Amino acid sequence: MVHHIPVITASQAEMPIWVTRHCISGRVGIRKLGVRSGSHTPQIPTVLPAELPWHPNSIITEENEDNEPDENTELLATGSMKMSLYAKYFKMGGGACLLLMLVLSLIIGQSASSGSDYWVTFWTNQEQLRKQYANMNTLEDQPMNVLAWNTTPFPGSENTKLYNSSGISVYNTLTNMSSVPLAGDNQDAMTPLCPPGDLACISRRNYIPPVLFSTEVSLYIYSGCIVACVLLTLLRSIFFFKVCMNASIGLHDTMFRSILQGTMRFFDTNPSGRVLNRFSKDMGAIDELLPILMLEVIQIFLVMSGILTMVSIVNYMLIIPMLCVAPIYYKIRSIYLCTAQDIKRLEGVTRSPVFSHVSASFSGLTTIRASGAQEMLRKEFDSHQDLHTSAWYLTIATTIAFGFWLDCVSNVFVGCVTLSFLVFEEGILGADVGLAISQSLILSGMLQYGIRQTAEVVNQMTAVERVLEYTKIDKEQGINSESEKKVPVTWPSKGAIQFEHTSMSYSISDPPVLRDLNFVIEPAQKVGIVGRTGAGKSSLISALFRLAKLEGSIKIDQVDTQTVRLHDLRSRISIIPQEPVLFSASLRDNLDPFNNYQDDTLWNALEEVELKDSVESLSHKVNAGGTNFSAGQRQLVCLARAIVRNSKVLVLDEATANVDPQTDTLIQGTIRRKFADCTVLTIAHRLNTIMDSDRVLVMDAGTMVEFGRPYELLQNQGGYFYSMVQETGKSTAEQLYQIAQQTDIEATRSQKRNSSFLFLRLAGHVFELHRGLARRGVQSVSRIFRVRRLVIELVPCVDLPRVGCPSCRSGGQTFELVHKDVLQHSSYITMAKPLEYF
Ligand SMILES: Nc1ncnc2c1ncn2[C@@H]1O[C@H](COP(=O)(O)OP(=O)(O)O)[C@@H](O)[C@H]1O
Ligand SMILES: [Mg+2]
Repeated sequence: MVHHIPVITASQAEMPIWVTRHCISGRVGIRKLGVRSGSHTPQIPTVLPAELPWHPNSIITEENEDNEPDENTELLATGSMKMSLYAKYFKMGGGACLLLMLVLSLIIGQSASSGSDYWVTFWTNQEQLRKQYANMNTLEDQPMNVLAWNTTPFPGSENTKLYNSSGISVYNTLTNMSSVPLAGDNQDAMTPLCPPGDLACISRRNYIPPVLFSTEVSLYIYSGCIVACVLLTLLRSIFFFKVCMNASIGLHDTMFRSILQGTMRFFDTNPSGRVLNRFSKDMGAIDELLPILMLEVIQIFLVMSGILTMVSIVNYMLIIPMLCVAPIYYKIRSIYLCTAQDIKRLEGVTRSPVFSHVSASFSGLTTIRASGAQEMLRKEFDSHQDLHTSAWYLTIATTIAFGFWLDCVSNVFVGCVTLSFLVFEEGILGADVGLAISQSLILSGMLQYGIRQTAEVVNQMTAVERVLEYTKIDKEQGINSESEKKVPVTWPSKGAIQFEHTSMSYSISDPPVLRDLNFVIEPAQKVGIVGRTGAGKSSLISALFRLAKLEGSIKIDQVDTQTVRLHDLRSRISIIPQEPVLFSASLRDNLDPFNNYQDDTLWNALEEVELKDSVESLSHKVNAGGTNFSAGQRQLVCLARAIVRNSKVLVLDEATANVDPQTDTLIQGTIRRKFADCTVLTIAHRLNTIMDSDRVLVMDAGTMVEFGRPYELLQNQGGYFYSMVQETGKSTAEQLYQIAQQTDIEATRSQKRNSSFLFLRLAGHVFELHRGLARRGVQSVSRIFRVRRLVIELVPCVDLPRVGCPSCRSGGQTFELVHKDVLQHSSYITMAKPLEYF
């Protein structure tokens, strides 16, 4: 592109300088800003922004620029919260080093860009001068008045200057850069050519053209500038998008982590749509819209800073029109932002119910269809959508109103400029007036664009604000904190649970749902929990998992659960909930999400729950929510998961409420067999499932009203449990009574049996029962460990990992003999206490 270098007089200075400046800045704008996303297509600078329709997606020319300092001030002035928001965003974007590199690349990139513009101007001037001197040399014998030289004397008179495209006096530049050589040696030789006393001629003859570089060198320099410009622009874009990408990832991850650690209260009070909204729409705006808008604003700011500096140097009067319009734009922008930000927030808030409604409708699709409630749901959805659309409509309306008012100001401004020529100036050329008007249009267009983009950035920052809001939600205490106790991997080894004055409420404002619970569950006991709906049965389980804030304490194997890391606590207790949760992943991932177990273990678990034949491989795909499994099978998968984890404490929250009696029997049987040595808490929906429990806990209004053996509780005819059993009908009550009685008899027998062989001192001669077993055990243990005297406790095989101890089988039960040294090992101490050390 060849630049025309205007040569202007001081009286005309203002307009031509604008022409050239805007042409240059427009060109710079296109090169630097590049292609905008969507319909923001770069345009040639000849399209006037003021002619474009005011629409959020309207095409705007790239040469918009002015007034950025004011805009920036406003951004700063909108409140400390806003600035801290930007600070947080960029802090997420990278460390000080990356940010510094970004700032440097922005400044150097802009300097290189302006520098190459400046060079083109300088070079063109050189070429022009070279041409003039060449002409002069060919005409040197002609009469003086023939030369055009007279009209543009060099060096010029006071009121005549050469300007480059950036508005800098070329004359100054040239004279500064070159000490113009005098052809003093040729003075005598030339003198005869000039008439005596013709100083102009003498002066002309004494100068050599002040051309410093040949055309070829100039071309190389310009090429170098362009290459530098391209590289720096590329570098700047890479840095900027790296920062923005880091910020996006950082914001997303921080929000995600925060949500994962959020309290149950948060999930109770925030519907999924609200959370989805932040992760989809707000993160989308941060990922896609914000970086581009920000880059444009920064770019506009840089270009305008450069222009303002140059203009101020050349003629400060030129800033006056800008200063007149800028405060008006500033005011309009403030008014717009006040409304727009609130509407944007409103739009964000009204969007959430739409998401929530759709996700709820999908999950309850079968119920909706079965009850023919489609129409009702459609109306509900329409009303949510109407609400959102009205907020969205307001967003568009305010944007258009904002554009309209900016246009009005621009038009008034252009009108004033035009009128000023009619009123104040005389003898002005029509072309100059046209130029002035077109430049005014460009100027106002630039101002508009700059203002609109900064307003848009501020608007989009509400997405950052909303995401940051979710990073500050209440988090559960002690998820992985160092202050919490790290328990041994084998904890809990027995499964004794003790509630001591335990109270719990879901939030500070709510009344407690559990009140002063006091009871002890012995290791391996099976406890049935019963009570009316809302009695607090599920809350009791929540308390065990520390899902809400507790008062008092819950101890598992003498360790207060409040002192244990939350992650440890929850991973050591297995639960089979009423609504089984299956992930959309392979069966293997569902059984063992953390990949801790071998395939054999998983297959064994599947075999236990009789699911082995239903699946071909562990890679069997499980649909979201386990929809390709029946409700009973889903429960069985959950049960298999619990078997794989082999926790010492298992909790069932009405696990068999939704399954057929056959699966119920299978689940109950498997639990009895596989979890014989574990503590099992069963919230019962059918009383027959807990009649054979060791203990029954009866809850009412958050308090424990009865706790004891079922048969024992049934003896109290005025008691809660008795009345609950009676409510099932006479025959069922009779059946339940029988089961309770039978269980009680068996339990008493078993207790007697256990007490006779539970703890044996093997190194001595106390072999009342299983004498042969004990002797064999001692012999083999002595052989293996080469010790003569041992203290050994018999514990069921399943409790111990394989440690190389010999095992013996007796009466259908397998036992392991544990060596004293093994017992002393910290992780086994809680599992089996040595009776005596020798
Ligand atoms: N997430 C929760 N937030 C607030 N209150 C709850 C929550 N879950 C249960 N509740 C209240 O706690 C009480 C006991 O509920 P719950 O333990 O679920 O009863 P149950 O399981 O015995 O039917 C009820 O009054 C219920 O309203
Ligand atoms: Mg419940």
